[in-house]
Amino acid sequence: MTQGAGRARFHRLRVAAVDRLTDDAVALTFAVPQELREAYRFTPGQHLALRRAAGGTGDGAEVRRTYSICSPAPAATAPGTLRVGVRMVDGGAFSTYAHKEIAVGDEVEVMTPAGRFTLAPAPGRYAAVVGGSGITPVLSIAATLLEREPEARFCLVRSDRTTASTMFLEEVADLKDRYPDRFQLVTVFSREEQQAGLASGRLDTERLSALLPALLPVDQVAGWFLCGPYGLVQSAERALRGLGVRRDRVHEEIFHVDDGPATPRPAPTGAPAHSTVTAQLDGRAGTWPVQDGESLLETVLRNRPDAPYACKGGVCGTCRAFLVSGSVRMDRNFALEPEETEAGYVLACQSHPSTEQVELDFDR
Ligand code: FES
Repeated sequence: MTQGAGRARFHRLRVAAVDRLTDDAVALTFAVPQELREAYRFTPGQHLALRRAAGGTGDGAEVRRTYSICSPAPAATAPGTLRVGVRMVDGGAFSTYAHKEIAVGDEVEVMTPAGRFTLAPAPGRYAAVVGGSGITPVLSIAATLLEREPEARFCLVRSDRTTASTMFLEEVADLKDRYPDRFQLVTVFSREEQQAGLASGRLDTERLSALLPALLPVDQVAGWFLCGPYGLVQSAERALRGLGVRRDRVHEEIFHVDDGPATPRPAPTGAPAHSTVTAQLDGRAGTWPVQDGESLLETVLRNRPDAPYACKGGVCGTCRAFLVSGSVRMDRNFALEPEETEAGYVLACQSHPSTEQVELDFDR
């Protein structure tokens, strides 16, 4: 598991910079004090959950959102900073706050890094297909890899609506300048007229199936990183499958499935009328009844408000827990790899009991 030291926790970090990336995206840089450097050490590709406490939101509800780290993993001696990209979402409670209110010098509650869409630098050839803000974790992955591994190569296929909406244009161009022989870049704009040297249109399965083998020897790629809207990630995955790429070489992170919790589904026939969940968290366990329709995360949160979560939408993986006994049904899962579900991990925010007793371990 590629996480910072210990289970994810919130700390207040000072905002060191707010940089406007596009009309609807900013980058927030946080200063990490010496005593928290170890806790915020990250593997490129991980994300941070940011929290605005109840009371700050006007309607009394706490808001959490996860944002990927875009900065390269720092050397041990580098000053401690973390940078995330935040794209404005229409009506988005946290992104509006980030864009309109957060200023240099403010303190924001930031969870320690989490997520398994990662690449620990290693020699070899790597590639990514990203859309929109999906560039954010891949920028960190590519920059760290190219800097640390002199023989590694990275091919980035990115799509966005227009040049003006494209996040991290300069940072990506900088990689191209610094590593002209090892960094390959193809940019496709979906809403821009074809111009000299620029591709346009949508990246669908058919197009990617033709494009990728023309760019690089597909069978020699040690890791593929697909990140962005659900449709693009699905198209890229289908293209790679059609090209014979092994499933264990493909890593996926979906952004923007929706901005809220999953719609609870009615319990299927055969589901137990009364269930309890036992949860182990930070070495302490408790057992509580699960109320009708609620997820196991909600049951645990009513009793242990320190239980880890961020999106409650099956996307970020922060609520991952090991299913010790019993069985659950998950509404949806965009976060866990097949190996993780096979090993017994579930997303607590999406899980409902299928047996009268269910036991989860958040510490594993
Ligand atoms: S809280 Fe994000 S997947 Fe459960």
